[in-house]
Amino acid sequence: MNILQHLRRQFLQSLEGLDVDSSSLAGTVQPAQDPRFGDYQINAAMGLAKRWKEPPREVAAKLLERLELGELCEPPEIAGPGFINLRLRSDWIARRLVELADDPRLGVAPVADPATYVIDYSSPNVAKPMHVGHIRSTVIGDALYRILGYLGHRTIGDNHLGDWGTQFGMILYGYKHFRNEASFADDPVTELARLYQLVHRLIEYQKQKKSLPEWKRRLEELEARWAEPFDESAADKKQRKARRRLQQERDQLRATIERAEMSVQAVESDPEVASLLDNLPDLEAAVLRETALLHDGDPENRRLWESFMPHCKAALAKIYERLGVSFDYEYGESFYHDALPELVQKLIDLGVARESEGAICIFFDEFDTPMIVRKRDGAFLYATTDLATIDFRMKTWRPNVILYVVDHRQSEHFAKLFAAARKMGYTDVELVHVAFGTVLGEDGRPFKTRSGDAVGLESLLDEAVRRAYNVVATNDDAKPGGAELSDEERRHIAEVVGIGAIKYADLSHHRTSDYVFSYDQMLALEGNTATYLQYSYARIRSIFAKGELDPDAPVALDQWQWEAPIERELALQLLRFPEALEDVVADYTPHQLTGYLYELANRFHKFYQQCRVLQAESSQLRASRLLLCQLVGRTIARGLELLGIGVVERM
Ligand code: ARG
Repeated sequence: MNILQHLRRQFLQSLEGLDVDSSSLAGTVQPAQDPRFGDYQINAAMGLAKRWKEPPREVAAKLLERLELGELCEPPEIAGPGFINLRLRSDWIARRLVELADDPRLGVAPVADPATYVIDYSSPNVAKPMHVGHIRSTVIGDALYRILGYLGHRTIGDNHLGDWGTQFGMILYGYKHFRNEASFADDPVTELARLYQLVHRLIEYQKQKKSLPEWKRRLEELEARWAEPFDESAADKKQRKARRRLQQERDQLRATIERAEMSVQAVESDPEVASLLDNLPDLEAAVLRETALLHDGDPENRRLWESFMPHCKAALAKIYERLGVSFDYEYGESFYHDALPELVQKLIDLGVARESEGAICIFFDEFDTPMIVRKRDGAFLYATTDLATIDFRMKTWRPNVILYVVDHRQSEHFAKLFAAARKMGYTDVELVHVAFGTVLGEDGRPFKTRSGDAVGLESLLDEAVRRAYNVVATNDDAKPGGAELSDEERRHIAEVVGIGAIKYADLSHHRTSDYVFSYDQMLALEGNTATYLQYSYARIRSIFAKGELDPDAPVALDQWQWEAPIERELALQLLRFPEALEDVVADYTPHQLTGYLYELANRFHKFYQQCRVLQAESSQLRASRLLLCQLVGRTIARGLELLGIGVVERM
């Protein structure tokens, strides 16, 4: 049962017949900030008092008269300017806890009206090695998939692989001209990644080479203007401002030139790359040609594409397996290729798109620039594929909601995409861009390795697991009775802890904020980390082991009993698990669940410091406390599982 939802429903019902806009008032029922004032609060009286021109405390009293809370709460109290404080009855909490003991769903009832969600997540470009940015999409999408499913919704996970874009043109070109046959035979994915990076680097090189003379001419101009006599004291405000702008532009251009010259130099002095520079055609154009050939069904490029794909997919599958993530479908961009001409025709026929300067475009009132769906040369775009994808998903699954878990930098793309979909008539599906921020290095800049590439995902996981091993070993070695774990156990634990740490670090930050990637922070045994929760779980399991009790057998108890206030606080937090899950799906924010679990573990540790469990004063108290421990353990394990994170019996 979701207590908060129940209270809100009761409150809204009590408002019937009054002159209020009840839909806006649900949010005035809130968990109390301070347990001294009760467990929940209703803050509606102050606002209504203004409207009704009555004293707020009198309004609160009037609201209370109508409020029907049954056996759930103590008689409510009115406090301060008109807050209504609600305190759950302890006997009610006690009864609920006993019920939870054998409720496998921990109080989470499946929703009454399940909806169908398509979740588009991970979706990397398969020709490039996956990088740290893709973790966020994968991990957030997977958590939403699990949580929505647990709540009883129908979920369809679709990994919208980028398997058809320009990056394939790049590896096609690279493969044809620069491949190392032996490396390819030995490890195709690594060789393809090398080719991708090589071609990418050469394209950048050519762009810089081409721009440098122009930049230098411009710099000379700026320097000359700067050298002209300028009398600061005689200048007026406008002249001084222009002078500052000139200086700024000059400095920026100097820096740009310096950077470009450095990377040009790096390429030219790299023996492996320098040898390729002679007779190099315009690579950007050449790559576009390879891509177009692939799209037009050129047999050679198709054959190569088909031979690359299984390797690329296998490399991805390896990472997904390690992350414990799976998808219902992996319809990549290529899947939609044949549908694109028809789709564009349909857009034209519907009057949604029209020709403009040779291209086919969708224009919007609310955006300055149109969405191009077919270029002048006939090529289709990322957006065209995304529209075809909506078409397909609507036809195939009839979803109520489609979630796109994608980097915030694509916000404009999705805003236009959704507007275009509405123009196409898809008005009764909720399209949501579940955007997320950037992963930063400890220097506060986007996370990169020294060589400048975004860090490969695999090495990131390896490093987290390596460090987790040290944490586990140190903790184990320091145990009072000596180390308890074999090396094999330590390795297994390190994998669960290391991968969990990375995922949790990602999930525990509000998805829209950037966060700093720090191994030390994410693997801390104390604080809002997976490690802390996993450690709490193991701790609870060890209590049962010490008492020679089966940790999974429901604790038998007629009446739950408590003594210390922390026991009641812990019990209440356990009953609030359904609220945490609802909070997550309300705004697609998994950090609401990590926050909940962290608070649960904090309360547990406080409880465990203050209360004896196995040595409790009476057998009823002992059973009551064991029940608390067991429920905390189960809730942590279930909560982490819903985030895609595992637990271990011992740490
Ligand atoms: N492949 C894209 C990228 O890595 C993300 C695709 C997101 N999904 C979508 N339907 N556009 O940037």
